Amino acid sequence: MSNNKTIDKPDFIVLSLTFNSINFIKKLDTSNMGEIIKLNRMNPVIEAERPYYLVFGSYELEGTLYNKIVDFLNHSNNLDLCLGIIGSGNRNIGPEYLITPKRICREFNLDMIFSFEAAGLSKDVEYMNNYLNDKYGKNEENL
Ligand SMILES: Cc1cc2nc3c(=O)[nH]c(=O)nc-3n(C[C@H](O)[C@H](O)[C@H](O)COP(=O)(O)O)c2cc1C
Repeated sequence: MSNNKTIDKPDFIVLSLTFNSINFIKKLDTSNMGEIIKLNRMNPVIEAERPYYLVFGSYELEGTLYNKIVDFLNHSNNLDLCLGIIGSGNRNIGPEYLITPKRICREFNLDMIFSFEAAGLSKDVEYMNNYLNDKYGKNEENL
């Protein structure tokens, strides 16, 4: 069993092109979160060191975001350490809503644990806080 409660808390790796995903993640209660790591869109491939959720938006063109996420997940242990996808999109787009997170989940066999529009509403923040608290909040009681 871990003797360092922060070790079990997931990191959040975010590739955000118009700041919506990063603004959503920054609204969450940090008590059940590890580090928030922002990827650079020009050079997004880094080596994840701990379990993490991957957060990004939706863009029709592969070159905009999809290819970068593929490169990131194919690097080193990054796919194994990924706990799931958190996706942002815009429902006005219609059937292409969440096109990139859905495709990545399908192709890499990952779960989309949550999705939201733009930078999320307060109900979205509440949902994620509850999700993280249910999953990781008990660590402190168990120590
Ligand atoms: C050029 C462009 C294309 C987009 N295409 C889609 C799309 O196909 N499906 C979708 O759900 N949202 C689409 N969106 C909306 C973004 O995914 C949404 O605003 C998201 O919150 C962006 O997240 P980010 O700022 O973290 O990158 C598009 C936005 C832009 C600017």
